[in-house]
Amino acid sequence: MSSESTTIDGDEYTKVAEIADFEAGNDGIAVDVNGIEIAIFEADGDLYAISNRCSHQNAPLCKAGERKINADHTWTESRGGVNEEKCTVSCPWHLWEWDLETGKNEVSGERIATFDVAVRDENVFVRI
Ligand code: FES
Repeated sequence: MSSESTTIDGDEYTKVAEIADFEAGNDGIAVDVNGIEIAIFEADGDLYAISNRCSHQNAPLCKAGERKINADHTWTESRGGVNEEKCTVSCPWHLWEWDLETGKNEVSGERIATFDVAVRDENVFVRI
């Protein structure tokens, strides 16, 4: 991953991807910025950056269809992923649903980190 950074409105942003990385049904990508695991999702034309780790049991949110050993009976290859209408992402392991804008899970009341996203010249940046 590039460590390229830029200043936007006085804040430092780190380049994490290019717009082309999100085309054609890519549910999300995972990036590491200074040791912080972040998932970037496209939903209804906008990009969102959220912690890539579910606070329940640490599953990677960017991996729709990730298999959890004790959930074989309910597992499918499309389990988890983005709901564009609700602007949420569901964890592939136990389907906790996270709001992509606020990082909140309504059922548990827990919240995970979200990050500002900016696009400049086809490059995608996040603010840590
Ligand atoms: S690890 Fe995400 S819902 Fe359980």
